[in-house]
Amino acid sequence: MRRVLVTGSCGFIGSHLCDHLINAGYGICGVDNIDPQVHGSPPKIPLYLNENMQLFVCDVRDRDHLQRALKEFRPDAVIHLAAKVGVGQSAYEMAEYTSANVWGTAVLLECLTKFPISKLIVASSMSVYGEGAARNAAYDNGRGERWETVPVATDEDHQPDLQSIYALTKYDQERLCLLFGKAYNVPTIALRFFNVYGTRQSLSNPYTGVMAIFASRLLNNKPPIIFEDGLQSRDFVHVSDVVRGIRLALESDVDDEVINIGSGNRYTILELAERLATAMGSDIKPTITGQTRVGDIRHCFADINKARTLLGYTPQMSLEDGIAELVEWLRTQSADDRVEEHKAELETRGLLT
Ligand code: UD1
Repeated sequence: MRRVLVTGSCGFIGSHLCDHLINAGYGICGVDNIDPQVHGSPPKIPLYLNENMQLFVCDVRDRDHLQRALKEFRPDAVIHLAAKVGVGQSAYEMAEYTSANVWGTAVLLECLTKFPISKLIVASSMSVYGEGAARNAAYDNGRGERWETVPVATDEDHQPDLQSIYALTKYDQERLCLLFGKAYNVPTIALRFFNVYGTRQSLSNPYTGVMAIFASRLLNNKPPIIFEDGLQSRDFVHVSDVVRGIRLALESDVDDEVINIGSGNRYTILELAERLATAMGSDIKPTITGQTRVGDIRHCFADINKARTLLGYTPQMSLEDGIAELVEWLRTQSADDRVEEHKAELETRGLLT
C-alpha cells in the first residue's frame, strides 16, 4: 500500500501527515479546498506544503474534480481529514458544517465505490463523547467525608453524546465511513482525535483550537480570553503523535474500529494559558470571563489503551516539549488576532452567555 490520498492535506494535521508519509516512502496525493478561513484571503497554497506530492485544489463536495483526482492518482488508501472544525462556529453555520463534513464525506465515499481502495482512515473527534467519563470519589472537607465527581480517562465504549453540530457531523463522518467499509469490504478505522496542537495550526483563524488562539493573543501582547473558570480540562496531543497514530492505523490489519488518539493526560485551560505565556516569556495574565460557550463540554481526556493494544501507539511528546517546539516556531510567525470579533459574534447570537 504505497499510494495514499489525503484529504485536507494543506491543513495543520494534513500537511504534517504528508511530510511523515513521504519521508516513509509513500506516494502522496493531496486534496484540499484551501479554505480562506485557514489559508487567508485570497487563499494561498501554504509554503510549508511538501514539494514531493501531487495536489488537487478541490473541495471534497466537488464530485467531478474529486473523481479526476482519483482516476489520475489511483490511491491504494485514503485518509480523510478534510473538515470544518469549530465547535462555536458550527452552532450558527449549520448548513455549511453539515454540507462540508457530512455531505462531503458521502460524496467522497460514492466516488470511492468507483475507484476501489484497500484502506480507509477517517478523522473523527473526541467531541462525539460529549462530557468525558467521570466517577464519584470521596474527599474529606475537614468536617467529614463528602463525595465529588472526578474526570477519568474516556475509552471508546463511552456512549457518544453529541453536544454540538460539529460533534454531530464528526459522528456522521465516522459512521458513514465505517458503514461504507463494511458494505464494500474496505478495512476502515475511525480515529477519535483529542485536542491536537503544534506548528502550522492557523494563528489567524479565531475558530481554531485553543492553543493556537492563545498563542495568537500572546503574540499580539493581549491576554488569552478564558471561558468558564479556566478549570475545564482537555487532552492536548502533539501533532507528531497524531501523525504517527495515523500511520500505525494505515499499516495495521485492524478493521471496523474506532480508536482514541490522545496523550492520555489532562490539563486545565488555565494551566495551558499560563504554561504558554511562561514559555513565550510573557507576563500577560489571562482574562477569565466566566462565560460559557454553547456546545462546550467540561472535561474529557483519552483512555489510549485500545490504540496501544491494537496499533502499538505510544505518545512521545510531553506537553512541555511540545509547547517549547511551538514557541520556537511562533518566533517566526505573525498572527492576525480576530478573537474578539469571533467572541462578539457568539455573544450577539446568544451562544456565549
Ligand atoms: C477541539 C477542536 C475540534 C477537535 C477536538 C478534539 C477546534 C476549534 N476544535 O475541540 O476540532 O475535534 O478539539 O480534538 O480546534 N477556550 C477558551 N478560550 C478560547 C478558546 C477556547 O477558554 O479563546 C476553551 C473552550 O471553551 C473549551 C476549551 O478551551 O473549554 C477547548 O476549546 P477548543 O480548542 O475550541 O477545543 P474543543 O472544543 O475541545
